[in-house]
Amino acid sequence: MVSKADLAPNKSDLDPIEIASLDEIQALQLERMRNTLSKAYNNVAHYKAKFDEAGVHPDDLKSLADLSKFPFTVKEDLRQTYPFGMFAVPKEEVVRIHASSGTTGKPTVVGYTQNDIDMWADVVARSIRASGGRKGDMIHVAYGYGLFTGGLGAHYGAEKMGCTVIPMSGGMTARQVQLINDFKPRLIMVTPSYMLSLIDEMERQGLSIEDSSLEIGIFGAEPWTESIRQEIEKRASLAATDIYGLSEVIGPGVANECIETQDGLHIWEDHFYPEIINPETGEVVPDGEFGELVFTSLTKEALPIIRYRTRDLTRLMPGTARSMRRMEKVTGRSDDMMIIRGVNVFPSQFEEIVLAEKSLAPYYQLERYRVGPTEKLKIHVEVRPGISEETGVIVQDILGGQIKARIGINVDVVVHDTGSVARSEGKAVRVVDKR
Ligand code: DLL
Repeated sequence: MVSKADLAPNKSDLDPIEIASLDEIQALQLERMRNTLSKAYNNVAHYKAKFDEAGVHPDDLKSLADLSKFPFTVKEDLRQTYPFGMFAVPKEEVVRIHASSGTTGKPTVVGYTQNDIDMWADVVARSIRASGGRKGDMIHVAYGYGLFTGGLGAHYGAEKMGCTVIPMSGGMTARQVQLINDFKPRLIMVTPSYMLSLIDEMERQGLSIEDSSLEIGIFGAEPWTESIRQEIEKRASLAATDIYGLSEVIGPGVANECIETQDGLHIWEDHFYPEIINPETGEVVPDGEFGELVFTSLTKEALPIIRYRTRDLTRLMPGTARSMRRMEKVTGRSDDMMIIRGVNVFPSQFEEIVLAEKSLAPYYQLERYRVGPTEKLKIHVEVRPGISEETGVIVQDILGGQIKARIGINVDVVVHDTGSVARSEGKAVRVVDKR
């Protein structure tokens, strides 16, 4: 693997704002926030009604901290105004639509003007550069193309960066591996869970992953722990950075880790203003404290988003490789939290334990079910190739014990043969609800 320090971009290649003083960044944010609030108020009836109801007006924003006076936006606001009710520009100015999969209820629809698309490409290009990508690199994009923002978001950013893009999308795993082998991209952009499937497929095809052309992976769209990072970096011999984003705010490229530090994700704060709130009270908490991440867009035209509650749990930290603040890696969403016999648990806690067990493959799925009135949890795992059945039986006990000791609950552990746990071609499904 190439040394990570060598992958870092030259300071002269950065956007000046990435390394500007905090005063400069905050002055820009205040100006842009005022503009966004008044555009939202004047052009979106839903925002006007909400601001009026809360007794606030865009003119009340005198400082960045005044943002806390404004009401939150939640997924339900987008559902209520489905499909285009939150748009702040005439529909002729909207050049692109994306939408969430909407597993429950209506999908949430988001729109972009040409300026929005350009800004989005800029922040994704900035993210690729932060990860060590350079003009002239070839990038294999295996995020899904379509209504999901991953594929096209990565694609436009990579083109803006001056890279050659392979618009592969998700699926056709054997083909993906063949093209990686033949085209020799330096970068890959894909969900971390699907990267693991690609690594398995390379091994199955007898290809040397270590000798593959891939030097950098930009992974996101789902929570992934440090253990998964180590697994991928080691097996695929590449440097792995974390990219974060959500469709309501723009898509991928809201924040990205810098390769030279890999110490959390720098939020591109000139376009997306973060706050952390206490999810129960809605109060803003100081930087450094954990809570729910909330975003206000600062430059978006088609869909200005004011104080959007992401449901992602993290904390804000000061900048390191860049001046802009960092967010800690998101390993849990409040939606994913399960309360099992009074204990709050997140899937990522199981991930750490499964990955620490060397005879187990890095795949798992949790199953919630009920026996009478009691909620129970089962974890499905599988052995790595070549591990015997007897070892599997031993591992079952060890894993159950580890989970009890570290998370504090009893779960049924089911150890399957290699290849039995469901694989993802995009975002992994970590929890199946059979209650
Ligand atoms: O997943 C956008 C994206 C595409 C990000 C490709 C990165 C790469 P949504 O489908 O709207 O958008 O899902 C957004 O996914 O609120 C988080 O819960 C989760 N998520 C996204 N990136 C990360 C990450 C895209 N790096 C939701 N770590 C967000 C943890 C992430 N969770």
